[in-house]
Amino acid sequence: MRKGFLTFAAVGLLATGSMAACGDDSSSNDAGGDAAKKPKIGVILPDSKSSARWETADRRFLKAAFDAAGVESDIQNAQNDKNAFQTIADQMITSGVTTLMIVNLDSGTGKAVLDKAKSQGVATIDYDRLTLGGSAQYYVSFDNEAVGKLQGEGLVKCLTEKGVKNPTVAYLNGSPTDNNATLFKNGYDSVLKPKFESKEYTKGPDQSVPDWDPAQAATIFEQMLTQTGGKIDGVLSANDGLGNAAISVLKKNKLNGKVPVTGQDADVTGLQNILAGDQCMTVYKAVKKEADAAAELAIAVAKGERKETGQTVKDPESGRDVPSVLLEPKAIDKATVKDVVADGYVDKAKLCTGAYAALCTANGIS
Ligand code: BGC
Repeated sequence: MRKGFLTFAAVGLLATGSMAACGDDSSSNDAGGDAAKKPKIGVILPDSKSSARWETADRRFLKAAFDAAGVESDIQNAQNDKNAFQTIADQMITSGVTTLMIVNLDSGTGKAVLDKAKSQGVATIDYDRLTLGGSAQYYVSFDNEAVGKLQGEGLVKCLTEKGVKNPTVAYLNGSPTDNNATLFKNGYDSVLKPKFESKEYTKGPDQSVPDWDPAQAATIFEQMLTQTGGKIDGVLSANDGLGNAAISVLKKNKLNGKVPVTGQDADVTGLQNILAGDQCMTVYKAVKKEADAAAELAIAVAKGERKETGQTVKDPESGRDVPSVLLEPKAIDKATVKDVVADGYVDKAKLCTGAYAALCTANGIS
């Protein structure tokens, strides 16, 4: 880290954006002797289609955390464009960010960005998604296998309540390029595989959705339904966007509410689908905690400080133990939608519109 900063100064990259930062150091750091360096954090979010969370939650909470710490930040969204991702990273590095935090679009391009930042003395953090083979100094996320386990358990609960005998379960997995999607699947497989093996359940179609794209998910699910002659009794969908795509197809076939569908992210549509009885559950990840933890680390590393996270995650590609913060996810069903509102994650006014107003009242959402 410290060495990184020396490199940074030595190669003369303290251009434009960070010049002002050099004059005034009000922070009380600093292990590295680079006391003149004022933190400036760059964040690259992945897109705004695969989940509402990136723009409605992550951006908001990260900005609030940086503002509260009085730290300059630049939060941008790559809109699922890998070239744009790299260009944004280059611009941020040139503009003098001291820490770069990324949600990669895939490990290959993520690694290139992290390595470049590192070579220029910029501290790096993997936010939410681990970049396999990457060089980020920290990884901040949720326990993603636990997320998948909650989804598997939630689906089992809903199928049991519906009394479906030997249900056929279809999988709509997340993007094959997202390490989280692998972890979610490990989690739900740990619950469902034993049931397939014991023949209590039947394994239906199992497909990954490129880029977590809900439009492709709808097409894929439509094909699944056709291919099985409508014999799908439960859908393990890896997030709310994919779940909503499946629900839209189920609606066309008048099967919504009959076939339980899972989700993740507790977004407004997911919660509305739960209130309407079309979605079985979602997984709430308190993004504010994730953003706060990441912001704290981003500011600390920018100052050359070392933080103990007390936990590491092994990068399965490089074998490196990456210092990590992993937060606990929470399962949400109809009875607990109100907890997500009470936590300030979703706005009651946005959730309880139109036909949902009565459902909100009936489910104690105030
Ligand atoms: C995140 C999920 C999100 C998905 C699609 C995953 O890496 O952990 O919260 O729904 O990406 O954006």
